[in-house]
Amino acid sequence: MCWIFWYSWSKDAISILVHWLERLEYRWYDSAWIYVNNWKDKTFRARSVWKVSELATKLQSMKDRTYIKGIAHTRWATHGWVTEENTHPHQSNNGKRSIVHNWIIENYSKLKKELIWNWFTFSSETDTEVIVNLLEKHFNWDMLETAQSVQKIIRWAYAVLIVNSEFPDEMIWIRLWSPLIYASSKQWEHFFSSDAQALAWYADNMVYLEDWDVIHIVNDEYNIYANWEVTKRNIEDFDQEALEASKWDYKHFMLKEIYEQPNTIKRTMKWRVNFDAMSLHSETFHGMGNEDYNKIVTVACGTMNHVGWLGTYRLQNLAKISAYSEIWSEYENKPFFINPQSLHIFLSQSGETADTLETLKMVKEQWGKTLGIVNVVWSSIARETDDWMYVRAGTEIGVASTKAFVTPSVLMLLLSLFLWKRRWMRLSKYQQIMRELQHLPSYIETVLDQSDHIRSIAMDLLWYKDFFFLWRWYQYPIAAENSLKFKEITYLHSEAYAAGELKHWSLALIDENFPTIFNLPHDEMYEQNLSNLQEIKARKWKICVIWDRRVEDADWQITIPETIDEIYPFLTAVAGQLLAYHVADLLWNDIDKPRNLAKSVTVK
Ligand code: F6R
Repeated sequence: MCWIFWYSWSKDAISILVHWLERLEYRWYDSAWIYVNNWKDKTFRARSVWKVSELATKLQSMKDRTYIKGIAHTRWATHGWVTEENTHPHQSNNGKRSIVHNWIIENYSKLKKELIWNWFTFSSETDTEVIVNLLEKHFNWDMLETAQSVQKIIRWAYAVLIVNSEFPDEMIWIRLWSPLIYASSKQWEHFFSSDAQALAWYADNMVYLEDWDVIHIVNDEYNIYANWEVTKRNIEDFDQEALEASKWDYKHFMLKEIYEQPNTIKRTMKWRVNFDAMSLHSETFHGMGNEDYNKIVTVACGTMNHVGWLGTYRLQNLAKISAYSEIWSEYENKPFFINPQSLHIFLSQSGETADTLETLKMVKEQWGKTLGIVNVVWSSIARETDDWMYVRAGTEIGVASTKAFVTPSVLMLLLSLFLWKRRWMRLSKYQQIMRELQHLPSYIETVLDQSDHIRSIAMDLLWYKDFFFLWRWYQYPIAAENSLKFKEITYLHSEAYAAGELKHWSLALIDENFPTIFNLPHDEMYEQNLSNLQEIKARKWKICVIWDRRVEDADWQITIPETIDEIYPFLTAVAGQLLAYHVADLLWNDIDKPRNLAKSVTVK
């Protein structure tokens, strides 16, 4: 995805900017560049149409380290292929104005036609070049006013840096929907960044800029304009530890993040659950308000949709609320049927997913009540929703979500218990769930202890090309998630279907070359699942079971601790993560950066 950083001043800008690019490299991009100035306004530019490491190698040999200001950017191609011509910054036709831009301009093709009609020419295929030529067309010798008038013409979303060679001491940023922070350090350094994480241990405090903000900088003095008036925004302290990311001794970030889960779950529950009193702290669920909800819809993409899906089962089953999960791309085309007792929950690890954000804005336009559940503090979804809850899973670097799947799933269970408590509740069942929740971190440790055993299963499985993931009820979203994770990083074909559908059509698909991974804990569905297991075994097809007790023979078995229906999904999810990880690792895949995927999908 696209990331912009700007640094000023007085340390070696090249090393700092490259370090930031490296920190966010895992989020995927297809070109990167930096542009720096020194005291005497000597400039230097370097770019790579592939890896940041290539750019870093080019820069390592540079002797001159007097550059103290600069900008770095990664581009993820949306308009026009990955070429030098399409790489930022882009210049206006007269060469006097230059810009760098994140996100996309939706009405760019109409605007481009109008500019061509006015004799403007284009040297790239990007939507960005439209903005810079509009700046030239509307230029009135006042950079601020020109930027504000162009802001009214372009249709979102963007964070744009504008410079003008006729006003070398000035700089303008405009933003709408695309995240942008201004930060500073105690050493008088100034930073702009589209992501806070990159700045950990550099900045001391930060200002999160809001939609339509225009920032005018003259010689490092800055003013924020909202509605053409100078305005003040909150200055927040930088939470360095929450934002730092390191792989420690693990081979991959994904493996480290899988192993972090017992701790992240404890962190998610801390301050929200009092296990001694067996109670939930109501102030931490302030996001739920005092409404007696009659309908809850979760909206998310990909893995987060599986969190919502599992969460709605809990809301239906425990809190007895009509709840359903929606993937944004389908939901945005449907009527929302909002009523005063309905709630929309937006789930997102990054809190920046453009698709989820867009649906959120649509729900808000219809006055729907919204709650955000996000992992990244200060993210756009947290700021846009009426209320929010932080998952507290810590930074997740691996593109394939693991801890950012399990921890919000725990939070959704806590929410369901909270709403259940306020309604009609079976005390004995509630207490049983609370007791088992307290043991959840240690149960997950037991699953993690089987990593070597799961790797030995992976050694057999990697020779197959197709896999089937089966489940029922609470295990339904989990098998869908395990299958998603499996194909995401192994690149092997897998399908996930309800076990009840087996004899309706899926038996036609399976054969001895098509192993089934079956989530089969001793839950309410166990007996029904067992007959499906026998159907598969009778045909001598291959089967790998994830269960808590051995009852039958299976080709491969992963044993999880015995617990209750509400807790099993977390354990089968972790077993599935390890299985996907080991198969992918044995296949030598780039686990932390699966091909064609980005960690944070900030374009539609
Ligand atoms: C897959 C995965 C993705 C994300 C999806 C939404 O492992 O992580 O499917 O869940 O792109 O991203 P967020 O959670 O940032 O909104």
